[in-house]
Amino acid sequence: MEIISLLNNETESSSHQDQFAIDVLMALSSSPKSLSSKYFYDDVGSDLFQKITQHEDYYPTKTEFSILDQIKDELPELLNEKVIDIIELGAGDGHKTSLLLNGFLDADCEVNYYPIDISEQAMQQLGENMEGHANLHIKGVVAEYCRGLRYVRDHSKNKALVLFLGSNIGNFDRVQSQGFLRRIWQSMEPEDYVLIGFDLKKPVDVLVRAYNDSAGYTRDFNLNILQRINNELGANFQLDKFQHYGIYNPVLGAMESYLLSLESQTVYIEKLRHSFEFDAFEPLHLEYSFKYLESDIHYLSERTGYEVMKNFTDENHRFMNSLWRVSKG
Ligand code: AVJ
Repeated sequence: MEIISLLNNETESSSHQDQFAIDVLMALSSSPKSLSSKYFYDDVGSDLFQKITQHEDYYPTKTEFSILDQIKDELPELLNEKVIDIIELGAGDGHKTSLLLNGFLDADCEVNYYPIDISEQAMQQLGENMEGHANLHIKGVVAEYCRGLRYVRDHSKNKALVLFLGSNIGNFDRVQSQGFLRRIWQSMEPEDYVLIGFDLKKPVDVLVRAYNDSAGYTRDFNLNILQRINNELGANFQLDKFQHYGIYNPVLGAMESYLLSLESQTVYIEKLRHSFEFDAFEPLHLEYSFKYLESDIHYLSERTGYEVMKNFTDENHRFMNSLWRVSKG
């Protein structure tokens, strides 16, 4: 697999470090304390996320897999193209995407697959997992989603299908997701397509179990962000003085993850040359995972310039993959 990186050189990776330091400074100075969930995914974090997705308490990944398995032959029929560019935002391990790619290949469609991911390592991994095929051309793009998408669209003019799977959209709040989908729309042509994975609203016990798995992978996934601050910014967080707390907020319609400080404590961060106080039981907010109704999905598509072609769900209505067509003019 050919890989192109749009993250040039060390200046960019050192500026990533500086950005992390600034975001941690802002996160720990604000009240309530809150840090972006994008920092979960260092190598250890990505590994823990992988474990979460395989745990029986975490339903989204396997549910989406079963939906994609069901629709893999229908999708090429609906789109009816001889050649297609399949552009995936947030490549993952390729497990789910292979199903879709094979659907198109079995329908004798020529497929140009462009996975886009910010992690070079994730991209390499993906390359190893992908099976070759005469009609499949893979070009990995290491970049931020919108920059990568613009790059692909500038270099290829085939009909495009953008994949945004795994309920990754759930990390955006309702305003951010509109902005994100509008930016994608901006890079696309009329009659192009997007397929998005949405996690649906459902009984609270199912949600709470998924974000508090019995093996403690989710807890470790959250605590790892403190370890990352220790490693990369020279902090002295003691992980056993924080507790993972995952709850459903029915007003927002979102799962929320917090770390709670178990006692009053001070943490020093070398790189920032600054100490931060935590009160006993003070929360540090780490993640939102927004849940959707089918009507929310229609509303979102209308606001951002798309037309819903078809929604696909599982028998328990836990997850929904929604196929949209870009409409312009
Ligand atoms: C990768 C954002 C889809 O929100 O379900 C899993 C991340 N966090 N368990 C999700 C996550 C805790 C996941 N997404």
